Amino acid sequence: MFVPAFLQLHPHFHLFSLTLTPVSLLHCPQAKYNMVSPAIRVAPSAANRALNLLRTVQYTHPPNCPCHGNPNHHHHHKQTPSLLNQVKRHLATPVDRSREKEYAFEMAASSIRFGPGATKEVGMDFTNIGAKRVCIVTDSNVAKLDAMKQAVEGLTREGIQFTIFDKVRTEPKDSSIKEAIEFCKPYKPDAFLAVGGGSVIDTAKLMNLYTAYPEADFLDFVNAPLGKGRPVDKPLLPLVAVPTTAGTGSETTGTAIFDLVSKKAKTGIAHRNLKPTLGICDPLNTRTMPSAVHAASGLDVLCHSLESWTAIPYNERTPRPTNPINRPAYQGANPISDIFSLAALRSTVKYLPRAVRDPDDHEAQSEMLLAATLAGVGFGNAGVHLCHGMSYPISSQNPGYKHHGYEVDHPIIPHGVSVAVTAPAVFRFTAASNPDRHLAAAEAFGVDISNVKRESAGEVLGAAIAEFLVKLGGQPRGLKDLGFKGSDVDGLVEGTIPQQRVLMLAPNLSTELQAERGELRKLLEQSLDY
Ligand SMILES: NC(=O)c1ccc[n+]([C@@H]2O[C@H](COP(=O)([O-])OP(=O)(O)OC[C@H]3O[C@@H](n4cnc5c(N)ncnc54)[C@H](O)[C@@H]3O)[C@@H](O)[C@H]2O)c1
Ligand SMILES: *[C@@H]1O[C@H](CO)[C@@H](O)[C@H](O)[C@H]1NC(C)=O
Ligand SMILES: [Zn+2]
Repeated sequence: MFVPAFLQLHPHFHLFSLTLTPVSLLHCPQAKYNMVSPAIRVAPSAANRALNLLRTVQYTHPPNCPCHGNPNHHHHHKQTPSLLNQVKRHLATPVDRSREKEYAFEMAASSIRFGPGATKEVGMDFTNIGAKRVCIVTDSNVAKLDAMKQAVEGLTREGIQFTIFDKVRTEPKDSSIKEAIEFCKPYKPDAFLAVGGGSVIDTAKLMNLYTAYPEADFLDFVNAPLGKGRPVDKPLLPLVAVPTTAGTGSETTGTAIFDLVSKKAKTGIAHRNLKPTLGICDPLNTRTMPSAVHAASGLDVLCHSLESWTAIPYNERTPRPTNPINRPAYQGANPISDIFSLAALRSTVKYLPRAVRDPDDHEAQSEMLLAATLAGVGFGNAGVHLCHGMSYPISSQNPGYKHHGYEVDHPIIPHGVSVAVTAPAVFRFTAASNPDRHLAAAEAFGVDISNVKRESAGEVLGAAIAEFLVKLGGQPRGLKDLGFKGSDVDGLVEGTIPQQRVLMLAPNLSTELQAERGELRKLLEQSLDY
């Protein structure tokens, strides 16, 4: 089994690297994940079974799409009587294995190299890969930073040809992604290098994807139901990612997020083949972040760790894939991602306030970069849920708010701000699913939980998160501070409903559409101010 060796090395390391070969676990020794053995499983009632089958039959996406996984989870709700009858007639047939709950989980992550100054090695990496023509991807702010200088010098030293695309949009939208793809197609690169935050790394992933499928329609690979959720069925070119923020963990994941303007919500493309070949995490590169970017990207880490830690357990997810290629990347909480997510949460609580307050606190900045990558490995395999699901319409339906401290020429609710704003309400809501985990999270915030009742876990964690946000400073105290009104809530609900890939991992969220709508509406209303 994979041992996170760096957790032991830390904090005495200078430079280390981690390669996480995919590992599948069929058995979990931890009691909390113990599977119900088939012998003692309670037979579902005929009515429940009919409903489950009906939901499955109504699932409109191909079951072989790895980008989303839980057909039992809602959104396909036009029940026809004839279909119901059909299902009833088939009740006698043995239950298909794919209707059973998941029993295994799989860990995948990019190779990660971590160390101050490691950026200058990147030229040699491309030589070692055998690359000769590299497309460097960055944005107009990062283009001026030392990280880019180191990268360009590194490639030049190795005699590698390159071109630079420096027009990545902060928080990309479909049109900015398409522009980036058109830029690199004629250059015919044999590798990609992304130097920047999540916006840059995600854009580079999609440049890599669509140059490999020049005939594809843009929506082909986009998460269903907004797009077609087509799987990426061939390897892409090597991509090296050098993060300059401590936030998204995009250097470790196969996820790329953008605003699909016509649908009024962010969405994305998620597939293992999008994963960078190598992530170079160089703490020297995050030193120049404005305080507001430290804060927003760090709140993303906070929510990645909290959401993956509290996501439904992998062995509660259905269906059990009949072929491992159909196991989704976002699988639910599991014993390996737990280690990463909880470590990231503890680090973020400890170091984010320091990194935001003091631009010279290099220890805190370095620890935050590490926490971002840890959380990336955690959520990249376990998934995220409600904060992220609701953040996508919040960012996309921005009424005109421009976050202070962001050097961009358009209104922006930074991703980290849009996820954190619902967090107090979300974890109050999800606590009933697993009070112990929510109490452990509250403890990570420094709450003395020795006398807290399990029924109060949600209240206590919600309050701890709200207090953390207030103390951090510069954060909206609810959606109203971002310019939203009560009358905007319905639009936000409708923009959240299609975020199945993450909602399927949300504990305590109803699978019936109207009930789900009501729950989401309540969460958003509670988030108007806190
Ligand atoms: N792929 C994933 O799994 C994933 C996960 C979470 C979020 N995201 C996406 O990532 C995007 C957000 O990325 P982000 O938070 O890393 O920030 P970002 O890339 O959007 O950058 C934020 C701002 O900071 C500037 N900047 C970046 N690094 C800097 C540095 N070192 N010094 C000075 N300025 C710097 C940028 O130019 C930009 O103006 C969103 O679009 C979000 O949806 C992706
Ligand atoms: C939340 O989920 C848990 C377990 O899945 C269940 O026991 C509990 O009753 C649910 N609570 C609510 C309020 O839905
Ligand atoms: Zn995020």
